[in-house]
Amino acid sequence: MPYRRKFLTRAGYTTLSALLTMGFLQKDKQKQNENTDSIAATYPNINTPLRQIAAAKRKRYGAAVDGEFLFKEKDYADLIARECSIVTPNGELKWNATEPQPGKFTFESADAIANFCQENNLELHGHTLFWHMGKPDWLPYPPTLEMIERHVTGVMGHYRNSPVLKSWDIANEIIADSENDTDNPTYGLRRGVKPELIRDLFQIAADVDNTKKFYLNDYGIEGATWKSSRFLKMIEYLKNSGVKIDGAGIQAHLWFSTAYGFDATGFSSVLKRLNDMGVKPVITELDIIIDSPVPDTIPKLDQMVADGYKRFLDICFAAKVDTVTTWGITDRHTWIRHPDWMPKKTYGDNPNLWKFLRPLPFDENLKPKLARNAIAQAFRQAT
Ligand code: XIL
Repeated sequence: MPYRRKFLTRAGYTTLSALLTMGFLQKDKQKQNENTDSIAATYPNINTPLRQIAAAKRKRYGAAVDGEFLFKEKDYADLIARECSIVTPNGELKWNATEPQPGKFTFESADAIANFCQENNLELHGHTLFWHMGKPDWLPYPPTLEMIERHVTGVMGHYRNSPVLKSWDIANEIIADSENDTDNPTYGLRRGVKPELIRDLFQIAADVDNTKKFYLNDYGIEGATWKSSRFLKMIEYLKNSGVKIDGAGIQAHLWFSTAYGFDATGFSSVLKRLNDMGVKPVITELDIIIDSPVPDTIPKLDQMVADGYKRFLDICFAAKVDTVTTWGITDRHTWIRHPDWMPKKTYGDNPNLWKFLRPLPFDENLKPKLARNAIAQAFRQAT
């Protein structure tokens, strides 16, 4: 049962994440109108692969890939190879996958993805060495320093000479969901996690392989929120501690709605602060859910999703973001259609609405959606 409980917690987090990301970001009436007015933009249909459009601006487009489907569905694999510059394994590099038993490492499924990357000239992003979820049941959270050392040495060591893996999410989601869930008001870390442990984790990682880019990755930081301020503090702490940290992973599981606005100003200031600290902001897990009121037709919903992408990416590119990874590429395989992660409040009790969960650039049949054109257009317009 602990597995199930974990998922329930996660579902709770999803709802909370929505509240954190958007609820606190409600803007005044004027802003809301602005947001609504922006809906109905048109985006040209550009057939050039996204990786090529991005490369023209010295940027990269990536997607999370699921090995389970990558080696079964040729059309899906072809789409990833065609569109992406970089991929993130959906689960194959998480602790439960790489070290299912203490000290017993398995890399079969992650290596299969690494080989796919090599064959198709894609980069691979290492996600992730430290997370309170995606962990084997034997592992406590937080793990002891000895467990961390063994894990990081085993996993990073395995990919030390990889021709494709160039970056790691050293730690994922270490900031608590809210100020009620932390014993550490300064850094807002999850219960039991000490800033020194994270510092040591980054240090161990650098001792194993300092040739890769190191990120701290989190969600709910796409605006001026309690979480984003704690996240920035933690980045500052790591910088001041003198450990190697190259990037800040901004997950960006976003919720858009006509009922509230997006905190563009707050998000821009998060990006600016990161750039000022010399830590590169990177978009690591972008997808867009439309919160209630859910539009009554798919075209209307797709338009909103597309506008959400454009609006968000314009802000990112204005702050010189160079890597954007969506969490999946097709609505056929999106984590939020899974009952464990579904945004329950809006969609959970109403199966008629599930078809409105269309957060990604391609539809179930791998046809490009308006969102794909919006992403292409944002890359094209980036300076
Ligand atoms: C998700 C996967 O997509 C699911 O298939 C899995 O069951 C749970 O994890 N933030 C993260 C990702 O950092 O690792 C999560 O991925 C989505 C939220």
